[in-house]
Amino acid sequence: MAVLVTGGAGYIGSHAVAALLEKGEQVVVVDNLAQGHRKAVLGGKLYVGDIRDAEFLSNVFAENEIDGVIHFAASSLVGESMQDPAKYYRNNVYGTLCLLEQMHKSDVKRIVFSSTAAAYGEPERTPIDEFDRTLPTNTYGETKLSMERMIRWFDVAHGIKYVSLRYFNAAGAHESGRIGEDHSPETHLVPLVLQAALGQRSHISVFGDDYPTVDGTCVRDYVHVSDLADAHLLALERLCNGGESGIFNLGSGQGFTVKQVIDVARQVTGREIQAKYEPRRAGDPAALVASPARAIRELGWTPRRDRLEDIIASAWQWHVNHPEGYGQD
Ligand code: UFG
Repeated sequence: MAVLVTGGAGYIGSHAVAALLEKGEQVVVVDNLAQGHRKAVLGGKLYVGDIRDAEFLSNVFAENEIDGVIHFAASSLVGESMQDPAKYYRNNVYGTLCLLEQMHKSDVKRIVFSSTAAAYGEPERTPIDEFDRTLPTNTYGETKLSMERMIRWFDVAHGIKYVSLRYFNAAGAHESGRIGEDHSPETHLVPLVLQAALGQRSHISVFGDDYPTVDGTCVRDYVHVSDLADAHLLALERLCNGGESGIFNLGSGQGFTVKQVIDVARQVTGREIQAKYEPRRAGDPAALVASPARAIRELGWTPRRDRLEDIIASAWQWHVNHPEGYGQD
C-alpha cells in the first residue's frame, strides 16, 4: 500500500516525503513542478503532472494501491493571491475537488490536508486555538479554508476521513542537508534574512516597526519543517487507526518578532545583516502564535526542534551548501 503525496516536490511536501521514506513507507508523488523541484524528491515514484488533469490522476490511482493521501499541491503566495485570485480558485479549490472526486471513485478514504494559519485572518486573541474565528484576509487563506470545508463535506457524504493541519510559519531544512527551502520568488522572512547574510541581498527589509508588539515588529510562530512533516505521519496514523477527522494547529506556541529573528540569524551566521525599516506590508497581522495543545494531546505531536536558534541554524546549513537552491533541475 502506498501514500500519495500531492505537491511532494515542494518545500513542506518534500520533507513529508523524506519522513515517509525514513519510516519505510511506499511513496507516490504527484507534482506539476510549477513550484516544486525534481531534486527535492528523495525517493518513491514521481509522476509529473497536474491534479486537475482527470486522465493523468486516474492513471496514478490505477497504477498504485493508494491507501491514503497527503495533499500539499497548491499555490501559496499571499501577495500573488491578491493580484490573481482566479489562479488560487483554479489551482487550490478546483484542484482539491478533482483530487477528492478521484479519491471517491477509487474508494480511498484518508486525506491529510496542508492548511494554514491564514485561515484565521486577523486573530481575536493569542495564542490561537482551532475554535477561534476563521475570517481570512487574503485569497490564499480563503481558498485554503474552502478546501478544508470541501473535504469535510466529502467526509459527511462519502466517509473520506481527514486531518487538516494549519501551519504557522514553516522554516528550517532537513538534517541530511539534502532538501530545504527554495521558492521563486522568495517572500519568506527566514530565507530572505539568510540570503542577506550570504551577501546575495544587500539588506533585509523590515515591514513595519509600529505594531503593538514588544519592539514594534510583527510576531510569528516559527516551526521546523521536519516537525511539520512528523505531524503529517502522525495524522495519517490516526486515520489508519480509525481516528476521527479533525483540524489541528501546528506551531511551537512561541512568538518571535522580526527583529528577534534577524538578531538570532546574526548570532547563528556570525555575519553582518543590514536591516532597513519600511512601511507595513498590506494584510500582515501584528501577531500570529499557535496554541498547538490539541495536536500535542490528540496526535501525540511534539515540536522537537523548537529552539529558534536551531531552526535558523538548519536553514543556514542549507543556504550555505545550496546558495542557488536546487539550481536547474
Ligand atoms: N517580513 C519582513 N520582511 C520580509 C519578509 C517578511 O519584515 O522581507 C515580515 C512579515 O511582515 C511578517 C514576518 O516577516 O511579519 C513573516 O513573514 P513571512 O512572509 O515569512 O510569513 P507570513 O507570516 O506572512 O506568512 C506565513 C506563511 C503563509 C501564511 C501566513 C499566514 O508563509 O503561507 O503565514 O498569515 F499564509
